[in-house]
Amino acid sequence: MTAVTIERVVRETPDIYTLYFPAVAGARPGQYLMIWLPGVDEVPMSLSTIGDPSSITVRVVGDATRALSRLGKGDKVGLRGPFGNGYNIEGERPLLVGGGTGIASLAPLAEEMVAKGVKPTFLIGARSRDQLLFKDRLSRLLGPSLMVSTDDGSEGYHGYASNYAAELMAKTRFDHIYVCGPEIMAAKIWAEAERLGVPVQASLERLCKCAVGLCGSCAIGPYRVCRDGPVFDTARLREVAADFGRRRMDASGRMVRVDH
Ligand SMILES: Cc1cc2nc3c(=O)[nH]c(=O)nc-3n(C[C@H](O)[C@H](O)[C@H](O)COP(=O)(O)OP(=O)(O)OC[C@H]3O[C@@H](n4cnc5c(N)ncnc54)[C@H](O)[C@@H]3O)c2cc1C
Ligand code: FES
Repeated sequence: MTAVTIERVVRETPDIYTLYFPAVAGARPGQYLMIWLPGVDEVPMSLSTIGDPSSITVRVVGDATRALSRLGKGDKVGLRGPFGNGYNIEGERPLLVGGGTGIASLAPLAEEMVAKGVKPTFLIGARSRDQLLFKDRLSRLLGPSLMVSTDDGSEGYHGYASNYAAELMAKTRFDHIYVCGPEIMAAKIWAEAERLGVPVQASLERLCKCAVGLCGSCAIGPYRVCRDGPVFDTARLREVAADFGRRRMDASGRMVRVDH
């Protein structure tokens, strides 16, 4: 655990904040950090910027994320990591689909792809226009290869990102799909990719406590999301298909339905 000092906080949307801090060494796109707020909790957060500074991007959903959103320049947090496997860059015509804060985990991947000469198509989806994350950053990177969908039609395609992704996949022969966001969305995109025979890497979320494969809170099938994931490829998604998009363990150890 190291203590880092927050250098800058950017309010991205009404309830999403990016916290910048000094570089996290050795991180790759798709990895996450455990962020500790003494007296509150320790929570997993994907790296939304890789480099110096590095960042996490947080949606306020409960106590820990609310406390994180209230931090400012000069405040300190405890940090462990980076953890997890991260994405592998594969294919020449990849499609990235990010929903909500899932965009945060995929943005550094898009940047690394472009740096390596691969130009992805990136679909970012949100409930409404004011919830769209990193639109300017990604538009500068990708130009017309950035696609937008909003559930309420306030910008871009009117409807769910999973529906728009299926339409894009019908028109263009993508050779690899990367997805991060609400699990119901990710599972729908995976099902469509399976139908078309296109490989997928999906970043999954489960309750993470230890982050090193010991406590079992993040179990999915025979795997631990914290250590074996968070990114699951097609072969592993097939192995956990009974759970992916369907059920997860809650904080008390009960199996509950996946509802977002
Ligand atoms: C590998 C990994 C990477 C992650 N990366 C990010 C990230 O980059 N940005 C980010 O904002 N979050 C990310 N998360 C999710 C984040 O860790 C949780 O949202 C956070 O732990 C919630 O803590 P809390 O104390 O604020 O809320 P809790 O008190 O734990 O939860 C409050 C309520 O919100 C619900 N909830 C929890 N998470 C979500 C969610 N994502 N969307 C909607 N409702 C939710 C819970 O079911 C509960 O009912 C990631 C999770 C994992 C496993
Ligand atoms: S968080 Fe403890 S095993 Fe994954």
